Amino acid sequence: MDVLDLPHSDSGSRAALPLVLLHGFPLDHSMWAAQRDALVAAGFRVLVPDLRGHGKAPSGRGPATMAAMAGDVLRMTDRAGVRRFGVAGFSMGGYVAFELLRQAPERVAGLALVDTRAEPDSDEAKAARIQTAERVRKEGARALSDAMLPKMLTPHAQPEMRARVERVMLATPPEGAAQVLLGMRDRMDARPLLKAVRVPTVVVVGSEDPVTPPDAARAMAEAVPGARLVVVEGAAHLAPVERPEEVARALVEWARTLRA
Ligand code: MLT
Repeated sequence: MDVLDLPHSDSGSRAALPLVLLHGFPLDHSMWAAQRDALVAAGFRVLVPDLRGHGKAPSGRGPATMAAMAGDVLRMTDRAGVRRFGVAGFSMGGYVAFELLRQAPERVAGLALVDTRAEPDSDEAKAARIQTAERVRKEGARALSDAMLPKMLTPHAQPEMRARVERVMLATPPEGAAQVLLGMRDRMDARPLLKAVRVPTVVVVGSEDPVTPPDAARAMAEAVPGARLVVVEGAAHLAPVERPEEVARALVEWARTLRA
């Protein structure tokens, strides 16, 4: 498996507990801007990468599996001198967080699962991933933004916010996005991992999330011993952008419960 160097920001005191924020598909580090600032202001060190196939990151060879993405994140933390860290994953970033639990559970000090799900793709969803990958190769990232933008934000979101998210989606390299779709298709079932989690966990979900709905979040929160569920009212899938302060508050409260 190739391991890539990820472009990333690293803010806050080096002496503070490190947190890693993992974005979703087809997005980049910028979705976490408000939460990063709030966590740094609350005294944490925060690393935010662009994951392979997204933003300014390279794409690597072949399908961008969740295991490969987790390997990249471990390399980033190794190089930053970070051994144990709390990880917050949004949607696809959550799938990568599950892989970190699989590959290096001793390094995960806490888990924030934001608008994500533990179950793998159904056969139907797997077939759709292949079709979407083909469309993105032919038509570019517009095929993704047209399909996904309506699910990311509620109809009440400001046009400026919608335009910002669309710009990030359209900047996703088409071949990278196609490889990520194939990687997500092949991800493993993370449900068996949940009951073994022994670190502070918060599950955050937008009340209107049509992609990873509140029921799926509730099931995850019930499966992880001691997990807290935060339902963010008035947000669709991309709750960290649509309701930045509420999600930041949930993450700061969670981060304060972590032990290095
Ligand atoms: C995401 O927001 O990362 C994607 O919706 C995840 C997925 O397509 O499964």
